[in-house]
Amino acid sequence: MDSVLPFTPLVRSLPAVVPFVPPEALERRNGRPLKVRVGANESAFGISPLAREAMRQAVDQVSWYNDPEAYELRHVLARLHGVALEEICVAAGIDELLGLMVRLVVEPGDPVVTSHGSYPTFNFHVAGFGGRLCTAPYQGDHTDLDALAAEVKQTRAHLVYLANPDNPMGTWHAAPQVRAFIDQLPADCLVILDEAYVEFAPAEIHFPCDLSDPRLIRMRTFSKAHGMAGARIGYALAHRQVVAALDKIRNHFAVNRMAQAGALASLGDQAFLQGVVRQVEEGRRDYQALAAELGLRAIPSGTNFVALEIGPEARRLLELLLENDVFVRMPGIAPLDRCIRVTVGTPQERAAFAQVLRHVLPQVQP
Ligand SMILES: Cc1ncc(COP(=O)(O)O)c(C=O)c1O
Repeated sequence: MDSVLPFTPLVRSLPAVVPFVPPEALERRNGRPLKVRVGANESAFGISPLAREAMRQAVDQVSWYNDPEAYELRHVLARLHGVALEEICVAAGIDELLGLMVRLVVEPGDPVVTSHGSYPTFNFHVAGFGGRLCTAPYQGDHTDLDALAAEVKQTRAHLVYLANPDNPMGTWHAAPQVRAFIDQLPADCLVILDEAYVEFAPAEIHFPCDLSDPRLIRMRTFSKAHGMAGARIGYALAHRQVVAALDKIRNHFAVNRMAQAGALASLGDQAFLQGVVRQVEEGRRDYQALAAELGLRAIPSGTNFVALEIGPEARRLLELLLENDVFVRMPGIAPLDRCIRVTVGTPQERAAFAQVLRHVLPQVQP
């Protein structure tokens, strides 16, 4: 039937993929609700009460279109980061921005560089625009900045992706290393620096937003520390030429009124944000302690999740956890797939996860 529909050759060539099986689908498959949802790196700590109230009020204006310029929000973000309004692009999350960036620079067949096993939604967009994914392996638990730069030079790619901290491993590089990485890239290669988890990372990761280098596109989200994953809102910090180019192709009405109002209010509640960061740090320590108790290695994380090294039985363990109504995820690609990836839940969720893990782990250990 497909053959008579006028899809482009590119779309016809794409495999049918589900980038992530959602927890809701797992519940439908299991025929019962999950007990512990610690697989999607969502926040377990809700949203700021100020954001909730702002979003509630915004519902009353939902008959109006959103402000496509997200003016108020960009104004506050500009002050926060010390950049100009024209250096910010607000979109429906980093995921949308990744697709837009690929669309800006990638033509069918063009090479695009990322780390082998890093955040797969980027790869999804590269495939969707016909790019040719070129990957650099991790070095141990870390993305390998030298290998990424070497891959860019070898393939002459115009786009490279780096998540810092990284998903799925949770590891990070300090700012001087990231800057050195950017400095060694060719002048015609843009770098996406995906900072979805930056609020949870140690201070050494931070560096000021000097957007005079048009190659650097930094991406931030309200999905993680701000707890608004379902509202779909994030932004790019980039040279004004890049932002102007994004304006040519973005969906100007993608970010709804509730999301914009909630994000704006959440930025005004730094105490809430700091509370979330503290609770996540506490949760990471809990997982470290649990790993030590069970003789597992927990990979040091600068995110709201922890990768636990299991070995060749990681996938089996994931299935056993799911059979016990515990949702976690794992890296899809070797050698990272020796790990399971567990989001920091509430203390109750962490305790419930620990209880099930203690129960099922012996079933996969020799
Ligand atoms: C590295 C990374 N980037 C981006 C995202 C998605 O961000 P958003 O919800 O803003 O689309 C995630 C979510 O898990 C992520 O892990």
